[in-house]
Amino acid sequence: MKVLITGGAGYIGSTIASALEDEGHRPIILDSLVTGRREFTSGRIFYPLDIADGEGVKTIFQEHPDIHAVIHCAAFIVVPESVEEPYSYYENNVVKSLSLFKTLDEVGCRRIVFSSSASIYDMVPDFMVTEEAPLKPSSPYARTKYMMEMILKDLAAASSFRGIALRYFNPIGADPAMRSGIHVKEPSHVLGKLVDVALGKEPVFRITGTGWPTRDGSGIRDYIHVWDLARAHVKAVTGFDEAFRRSGAENYLVINLGSGKGVTVKELLTAFEKVWGSALPKEEAPPRPGDVAGAYASAEKALNLLDWRAEMGMEEAIESALRWGRERESRLSWD
Ligand SMILES: NC(=O)c1ccc[n+]([C@@H]2O[C@H](COP(=O)([O-])OP(=O)(O)OC[C@H]3O[C@@H](n4cnc5c(N)ncnc54)[C@H](O)[C@@H]3O)[C@@H](O)[C@H]2O)c1
Repeated sequence: MKVLITGGAGYIGSTIASALEDEGHRPIILDSLVTGRREFTSGRIFYPLDIADGEGVKTIFQEHPDIHAVIHCAAFIVVPESVEEPYSYYENNVVKSLSLFKTLDEVGCRRIVFSSSASIYDMVPDFMVTEEAPLKPSSPYARTKYMMEMILKDLAAASSFRGIALRYFNPIGADPAMRSGIHVKEPSHVLGKLVDVALGKEPVFRITGTGWPTRDGSGIRDYIHVWDLARAHVKAVTGFDEAFRRSGAENYLVINLGSGKGVTVKELLTAFEKVWGSALPKEEAPPRPGDVAGAYASAEKALNLLDWRAEMGMEEAIESALRWGRERESRLSWD
């Protein structure tokens, strides 16, 4: 089946494209390359467009009327940057997504899968969140995700399409076949930073935030191998109608995508040092703007509705990130 992926030249979208291809499906990439990588579109049907380019999106559907579903990954994603530049985050992630959804309704798109984020959850005492847990998005970035969930829900009730919002926890690692991975020069993701320190590109790993009410004071996360995350999207598009049938929901669903295990940043660091084979230089630092103590997923709904659960371990993710960290130098260029 054909699946349109917005943001398909990015870290997660490109991995989803690989997972779709491995299952015999045909990804179609829509990406403006504002942050993404042309290298990740190689050999794929690729439209270098902005999501708000309504005529361009319509052309894609004219040329591929058999698109089964749209996975909407395109967004700006850096939390501290969203604190400094809220306008561009609301414009890109909300205004342009709204425009995309209008176009998708006009072309009769039936299924939208939206990349949402666990960063919209409020903190709960035991850190484990179900999809019904209270929400409290604490940064402009997280608020763009929260707003788009509300918008998708309202539009799905009145439009040609139904929507599934997938709340990702903390994707780490790279495609095991090394087709893509983290691509920014200076990764803001914790594992990307660990890899940079291990490979000598950064002098020291900063544990940002050590006064949280967790078991060791560092933030708690639910690290999920990006390949597991990508496989969940294959399930979400191929099992889209079945997920609605099973849930009884009419037109909108929210599903957590996490491993179901809480791991602190310090525990991740220890696991990384074990895989790497030696200790890294590290220091403790205050939390970054917009940081939160964190959460981990209740992963039951994904199992019940999508027949999906995370299968790969944290060590596998760390190992793939290290491999990608070495390989990407020869695969990607930075200005
Ligand atoms: N990476 C994470 O830790 C994480 C966690 C939770 C949710 N998410 C969500 O997953 C999605 C993908 O994240 P990622 O890590 O792959 O980021 P990424 O920056 O690697 O990919 C985003 C892609 O979207 C494209 N894009 C951005 N704005 C666009 C626009 N207006 N028109 C066309 N293309 C545009 C970029 O060029 C890029 O290729 C995002 O929606 C993000 O909010 C990511």
